[in-house]
Amino acid sequence: MDVREKPIGIFDSGIGGLTVAKEIMELLPKENLVYFGDTARVPYGSKSKETITRFAYQGVDFLMKQDVKMIVIACNTVSATCLEELRQKLPVPVVGVIVPGARAAAKATRKGVIGIIGTERTVSSMAYEKAVRELNGSAKIISKACPLFVPLVEEGWLDNEVAYFTARTYLEPLKKEGIDTLVLGCTHYPLLKPTIKKVMGEEVVLVDSALETAKEVAGILREKSLARESGKPATYRFFVSDNPEKFVKVGERFLQRPIDPIDVVDPEI
Ligand code: DGL
Repeated sequence: MDVREKPIGIFDSGIGGLTVAKEIMELLPKENLVYFGDTARVPYGSKSKETITRFAYQGVDFLMKQDVKMIVIACNTVSATCLEELRQKLPVPVVGVIVPGARAAAKATRKGVIGIIGTERTVSSMAYEKAVRELNGSAKIISKACPLFVPLVEEGWLDNEVAYFTARTYLEPLKKEGIDTLVLGCTHYPLLKPTIKKVMGEEVVLVDSALETAKEVAGILREKSLARESGKPATYRFFVSDNPEKFVKVGERFLQRPIDPIDVVDPEI
């Protein structure tokens, strides 16, 4: 089989990685995709390094069995925890979301004062800080975990009063610090963009790692001559580890396209 025909594998802890899948679908419409969301074990963001790493190995093993040509770790928490380890062990290119997001933040900031929000695990790993500092050694970085954002998005509460109050409570301190750029360092957060914007104001640039990651994927496909050229329409396959009905319901509303076919798999087998 022509390697360029093989799908790109996208791994996330659940539904949030569809923000990355959507950007890839838009930027690279010819690419076949296989998505695996570990919906049985989400959220990863509050779990230990060891548990997240074990889950990540099982998830990427499953994708490798689908004969993918590249793996995108759409989950910020996994990218922050064990990306390098995965990269060294896997025989295909592995793209994470942290470096693309950090690069965009370093480019966007005018005053060098950057806010980073993510899950507890992503924030405590300092992975975004390290990546931003490599590009801008003098940047002032303020990080904050926003654990309630994930359940808000899962519930579809994107712009109601609860979402606004939660965003204000988490983000007011960052605003007071005078950040001019805010990295949305979690798959779910781009869905809260309008609410976050309302709190932060128009002047603060919101960096969406999903879009930056799609650009990174495009660059690697070009560089490694892996881009699909066939004129046949791209195919998308979705796998979850539990609750496909909820994934389809929320996912279709977000992607604005059918999620079909979808299968339930056990990544531990
Ligand atoms: N996908 C996770 C991330 O981007 C958010 C959900 C979770 O905690 O598993 O960090």
